[in-house]
Amino acid sequence: MTKTTVVHGARQLVRVDESGVDTVEDGAVAIEDGTVVAVGSTAEVTREYPAETAETAVDATGKTVLPGYVDPHTHAVFAGERVDEFAAKLAGKSYQTIQAEGGGIFSTVRAVREASLAELTDTLLDHLDVMLAHGTTTAEVKSGYGLSVESERRLLEAVARADERHPLDLVPTFLGAHAVPEGTDPDEYVDEVVHEQIPAVADADLAVFCDVFCDEGAFTREQSRRVLEAGLEYGLAPKIHAEEFERLGGAQLAADLGAVSADHLLRATAEDAAAMAAADVTPVLLPGTAFTLGTAYADPAPFGTAGSRVALATDFNPNCYSQSMEFAMALACNGMRMTPAAALRGATHHAAAALALDDGTGTLRKGAPGDVVVADAPRFEYVPYNAGVRTTETVLKGGEVVHRA
Ligand code: NIG
Ligand code: FE
Repeated sequence: MTKTTVVHGARQLVRVDESGVDTVEDGAVAIEDGTVVAVGSTAEVTREYPAETAETAVDATGKTVLPGYVDPHTHAVFAGERVDEFAAKLAGKSYQTIQAEGGGIFSTVRAVREASLAELTDTLLDHLDVMLAHGTTTAEVKSGYGLSVESERRLLEAVARADERHPLDLVPTFLGAHAVPEGTDPDEYVDEVVHEQIPAVADADLAVFCDVFCDEGAFTREQSRRVLEAGLEYGLAPKIHAEEFERLGGAQLAADLGAVSADHLLRATAEDAAAMAAADVTPVLLPGTAFTLGTAYADPAPFGTAGSRVALATDFNPNCYSQSMEFAMALACNGMRMTPAAALRGATHHAAAALALDDGTGTLRKGAPGDVVVADAPRFEYVPYNAGVRTTETVLKGGEVVHRA
């Protein structure tokens, strides 16, 4: 039997799709068996799909209805905590100094190596609850805090288990080349990533993407190329952490390899943006990272000018401790001067492009998955405008109510 959900009476319904953002007053959406079957005015939609006979009806009077947010860059699976580094950073210590002293990523790696699969899964599930409560319905999760065959695999197994147990949809990315383990030769470690980690992860079907941290103190452009080419051989599409602290050429490498996305891009140039646009590499900007590092924000303008679909993500990790795409949108507007409409596209449709999802995820239109946020806001601009305040009230995933504030 068909299962119908109707969300009706919205003060504003926001239809995000390929052509942009447009709004409907007194809007409604109908979902059948998980897929959107009608979007429009409440009168139109409920004529065909009456709220009274639907299995689930959500009254959105006075609220704004939007597509569920998509977070295309997180490091959400980890163990331990680094709240003390927060204080150290505020006292003036740089991210790189903390890492050089054995903290940062290395501190999380030690905690992860001691954590069981069950512990990693449970901690991830807790973070997913927070993401969902802030309106995220699909998220990418990277490994990268294991840095060995066994622990990288365990991290990705935790992602697979959490994906089964949680309404949020997860897209797993292998990031064995996140840092060179302490006391290891960088090229020897790249050999291990290429010859042992990638085959192990791909054989167990644990990842969709292969990522690399191409930066000073992490991996060079040539080492990054080796990692991403090995990933490609095993069917893992490339992503890259590029031009964050130093401009090492990661954006151009992404273009050369036809990567799905290049992320961070704080130091990327107009030339990098043009090369990426020509190769259809989606730029993913992470305003939370600049916010927590206290550095300048990435400039979205060259990417927009080059014709790219600029995506936003949280970069949620122990250094950038925010699971909220609402907050990422607020920072994108206030810190990067993006318009609320551009920020919303970045957090939905463009974010789905950064994950190569072409099933309508991140849009609200006929045929898209029934992933919907009902926000306690009179219009969508209030989501980034009401900075630091959760506007998400009800979340639907595939037409099911999976969160109510
Ligand atoms: O994307 N830049 C590299 N990796 C992460 C930070 C990871 C960490 O500090 O634990 C990032 O910001
Ligand atoms: Fe990252």
